[in-house]
Amino acid sequence: MLSQKTIDIIKSTVPVLKEHGVEITKTFYNTMFENKPEVKAMFNMARQESGEQPEALAMTILAAAQNIDNLDALLPAVKKIGMAHVNSSVKAAHYPIVGENLLLAIKKVLGDAATEEVLNAWAEAYEVIAKVFIEVEKDIYIDQICRDNQIHQTL
Ligand code: HEM
Repeated sequence: MLSQKTIDIIKSTVPVLKEHGVEITKTFYNTMFENKPEVKAMFNMARQESGEQPEALAMTILAAAQNIDNLDALLPAVKKIGMAHVNSSVKAAHYPIVGENLLLAIKKVLGDAATEEVLNAWAEAYEVIAKVFIEVEKDIYIDQICRDNQIHQTL
């Protein structure tokens, strides 16, 4: 559970993130691919270059920030993104990599406005958001395994 103070900080950063959202996610991908070249192969580089994927991530993070005290509202979107993640073999262990590099990007782009308090609030909020994705994706992986087993049984 996030404290009311953390929720307030997250909500108050939405307008700033709206201003810098795409810039933050573009910086995030560049930093992550530099720090963790092994995850680069998972991404569709054509979408990176068109700006489509960085924008999708920015918008999802803003939606999450706006709904940080009502994450259930995000579930339909998380289920759809979860399918794309499972198709790309995204695993729970990848989430800390994304979180770490996202925070580095927020820090770099916001400069002095990214106080320790703001960064700590985002680290906490990211963990909560990541947990929702990980749970939804776990269910999709389980469904897939069950379906595959059924297919085997009928063969
Ligand atoms: C809370 C964290 C995350 C958010 C908000 C997020 C958001 C998104 C969104 C909005 C899409 C587009 C889905 C679509 O096309 O319908 C996407 C796709 C994708 N995400 Fe994530 N994601 C997160 C975490 C991760 C992690 C941890 C990884 C693994 C390193 C990852 C890898 C991918 C990949 C490979 C795609 C497929 C698109 C492509 O090939 O570029 N994401 N994500």
